Amino acid sequence: MASLTVRKLDEALKASLRLRAARAGRSVEDEVRMILREATEGPEAVSASPARNAIPQPHRSRAPEVKGLPRVTLIIGGGIAAYKALDLIRRLKERGIHVRCVMTRAAQQFVTPLTAGALADERCYTDLFDAQSEFDAGHIRLARDTDLIIVAPATADLMAKMAQGQADDLATAILLATNRPVLVAPAMNPLMWANPATKRNVAQLARDGVSFIGPNSGEMAEANEAGVGRMSEPTEIAIAAEAMLRPPHTGPLAGRRILITAGPTHEPIDPVRYIANRSSGKQGYAIAASAADAGADVTLISGPVDLDDPAGVRVIRVESARDMLAQVEAALPVDIAIFAAAVADWRVANAGEQKIKKTSSGMPPLQLVENPDILATISKRQQNRPQLVIGFAAETQNLIQNATSKLKRKGCDWIVANDVSPASGVMGGDRNTVHILTRGKAEAAVDVAVDSWPVMTKEEVADALIAKIAETMGQPTP
Ligand code: CTP
Repeated sequence: MASLTVRKLDEALKASLRLRAARAGRSVEDEVRMILREATEGPEAVSASPARNAIPQPHRSRAPEVKGLPRVTLIIGGGIAAYKALDLIRRLKERGIHVRCVMTRAAQQFVTPLTAGALADERCYTDLFDAQSEFDAGHIRLARDTDLIIVAPATADLMAKMAQGQADDLATAILLATNRPVLVAPAMNPLMWANPATKRNVAQLARDGVSFIGPNSGEMAEANEAGVGRMSEPTEIAIAAEAMLRPPHTGPLAGRRILITAGPTHEPIDPVRYIANRSSGKQGYAIAASAADAGADVTLISGPVDLDDPAGVRVIRVESARDMLAQVEAALPVDIAIFAAAVADWRVANAGEQKIKKTSSGMPPLQLVENPDILATISKRQQNRPQLVIGFAAETQNLIQNATSKLKRKGCDWIVANDVSPASGVMGGDRNTVHILTRGKAEAAVDVAVDSWPVMTKEEVADALIAKIAETMGQPTP
């Protein structure tokens, strides 16, 4: 049998082999085997068999483009606190931060790249000279294609290397090649933290512009040891990261928390069918984007829509009205709540756990029950009622009259009324004509004031509404 040595192939062929292997997640040797099998047994034989020796990876090797989300490269160092870095991935993702992980060789003694990759939803990078890492991102992209680098846990050794500018593995090469802010969460034994060498390194790193969080004092992993050296808790690190990524805004709604609902809800009939409506979610998403631009801290609770997350907005996706209410209540307290969602009024009481089959006995009877009214529930809360509660009134006839009675019935402060009759083209369209109904002052003769705006794009409506809110709320009390 003929033998073949990959090393002796010409450079161009070797390079394209490496690239093919990296794309398939195989070693170069396995890729050659695959090519030979393909040549002798045909492509079907190869496609039917799983890649041998392929490293199991999370379902995607590269996360989809994350528009608008701040990005963190999390470097996990080799210490017992590495397990807390896994929780940190979750805490960052909860805050709408995209996380990409890198692990040192020592970190892999404590937690696996597979776990970190699965939590981050993108493979975890470990090797400077690994063809797949270089193909997927490359250490220069890992260093620059991010908004912040977090080192957690940062061991004494890793900080010493950083202070010295060493770059003998992927983590240190990224740290040397980056031009992004770096946040370090040290974790080590109290004697190591107190050692003059560590103090020198910390001082050097601080001079170089590196930010620190912790360490905290407390019990150590070693029996009977306590003192300063425990890594900060994942939530503390996530809050510090968020403050670096989203510095306080200066817009007219800076310091205000706003909650917005948007889109339709889907109410299940059975596991494959649901009741829905034609809402696109565009108006609610535009309001969220405008509120974020005005400096507010925005949570958008969205039903199923085909829209990208607005930049700088925390987006929570839900399906049904009941899920939406639960998430709205969980997001309280807020200063302002805007209910732009087209919540289904009814759900199916007898939704099937299995797909409902056609039978000769005719159509299945669907019993409908009323969904909770989210706007009314929040407006009538005794505790944690937002200072300003705004509802929408989607009407097809008697617009102002119906909207006025909705304002009173639901107990909100303002209603944005719009005509959603098919002729208006509002549902799913890009333009909107709205009337803002506000409760008049008690002493005023009129109890509801109506402000009618001209036809505008949904973005213009959003900007005008946010401007009116800012004017009404004034400056937050510090
Ligand atoms: N709304 C809600 N929860 C519901 C129904 C509606 O929070 N279960 C909110 C909507 O987000 C909107 C306002 O109530 O801000 C009015 O919604 P709309 O569909 O116009 O009114 P309904 O109360 O559903 O009344 P109707 O369908 O009879 O017009």
